[in-house]
Amino acid sequence: MSEPNIKREGFSSGLAVFFATLGSAVGLGNIWKFPYLTGANGGGAFLLIYFICIVCVGVPVMVSEFYIGRRTRKNAVGSFKVLTGKPGTPWKGIGLMGVAAAYLIMFFYSDVAGWVYFYCFKAFTGQLAGITKDAVGPLFGQVIGAGTAGQPLSAATLSPLVWQVIVMTVVGTILSMGVRGGIERITKTLMPLLFLLIIICDIRALTLPGAGKGIDFLFHVDFSKITAPVILSALGLAFFKLSLGMGTMITYGSYFTDDNHMIQTAGKVAASDTLVSMLAGLAIFPTVFSFGMEPSAGPGLLFMTIPLVFNQMPFGGILLACFFLLTCFAATTAMLSLVEVPIAYFVEELKVSRVKATVFNCVLIALVGITATLSVDSSSYLGQYKFFGKGFFDLYDYLSSNIILPLGGLCIALFVGYCNKREDIADELSNHGTLANASTVDAYRFIIRFVSPALLILVFLNSVGILKF
Ligand code: PFF
Repeated sequence: MSEPNIKREGFSSGLAVFFATLGSAVGLGNIWKFPYLTGANGGGAFLLIYFICIVCVGVPVMVSEFYIGRRTRKNAVGSFKVLTGKPGTPWKGIGLMGVAAAYLIMFFYSDVAGWVYFYCFKAFTGQLAGITKDAVGPLFGQVIGAGTAGQPLSAATLSPLVWQVIVMTVVGTILSMGVRGGIERITKTLMPLLFLLIIICDIRALTLPGAGKGIDFLFHVDFSKITAPVILSALGLAFFKLSLGMGTMITYGSYFTDDNHMIQTAGKVAASDTLVSMLAGLAIFPTVFSFGMEPSAGPGLLFMTIPLVFNQMPFGGILLACFFLLTCFAATTAMLSLVEVPIAYFVEELKVSRVKATVFNCVLIALVGITATLSVDSSSYLGQYKFFGKGFFDLYDYLSSNIILPLGGLCIALFVGYCNKREDIADELSNHGTLANASTVDAYRFIIRFVSPALLILVFLNSVGILKF
């Protein structure tokens, strides 16, 4: 079944596989989305459910995507053709849906990444030095505010658009360098640095006066807060966090080395990613409580807390700049994996050169992404346009995270669980019999056939409003 393709690029070593995959998982999801969703959904209770989702659904779906990718050494669409042996197989719809999800996520993700780049610039130029609690909120409003409808455009209101274009230029440049020279080189250097900086940030946050309340908020499980919407939003976050349900891990799996222990890689990536989210939470919540802010402040939480933590320490200015720089890197490595999904599809299925595919996709994302940037709040230029009650930014987020990713994850679980032979799965996951992991493979197969689909059907029915708890 496996089709070794000598000309096809891939990662060079197990370490490169680990860092590239972790580079996809770790991103704005950990530092921006995880803290604000945890804050909005009651802290510890949300966290507990999130852990369960990662173990019961996240890791098994990730292994399934790795299996599909490495077994076929193809992109998210072509892999289904190879595995079913039918070019017209309806299962390739999963891959096409993944390509669509990659665009939708990138439209808003590149906007938030632009805010991070902008904060990084402000930090490096000393504009965040000595910022006070009262100034952080208005500053955030100014950074995201892409003009007010009816008022003339100014340089300040155009800045989020300019930063979004800068983001896409950086992503496109790295991607055009290829899998090894671009993705692998960048992720291997930056991931360890990110860990280090978050830990420094944690040490300061945890020694602020009143930090204990933040720790308590994050770890105290109040079972009364575990409601159906909390469970379902934790499941959706697990998908977004681990870059699952849209073929990213199929595409990356197709670049894996032959001797990679894929079950272990999935476990290690999920554990490290969750650790980064926890470390981000441990930096943010003690600060929130120490400064008497609201944990449920929403998407601005990161931008309003982190500058305050660093203000409280020696060399805070430079450390803050480094923190935002590394957040830029985390966002960038996650975006590399997102855009790699359509690029691999264009190159292999539509026979377009890698450079042309990269330019086309990055320009498309930057252009359509403008709609997200200009709709962030309802007073923005495009803020008044609503679809099902949501502006462009929220619509892209909702459609991708709440609909396409859970649906994609469900289809992937069902496809691997029911349409692939046990021997093929065991052969691939044991590296053609060189690993003695038969019992793990059987446990994995049981979960993918029964446990993950059951949970995913619940989340999907709820997302589309068919089932309300
Ligand atoms: N996992 C990334 C994050 O948490 O920021 C976001 C993401 C990347 C989602 C790649 C989906 C994806 F395919």
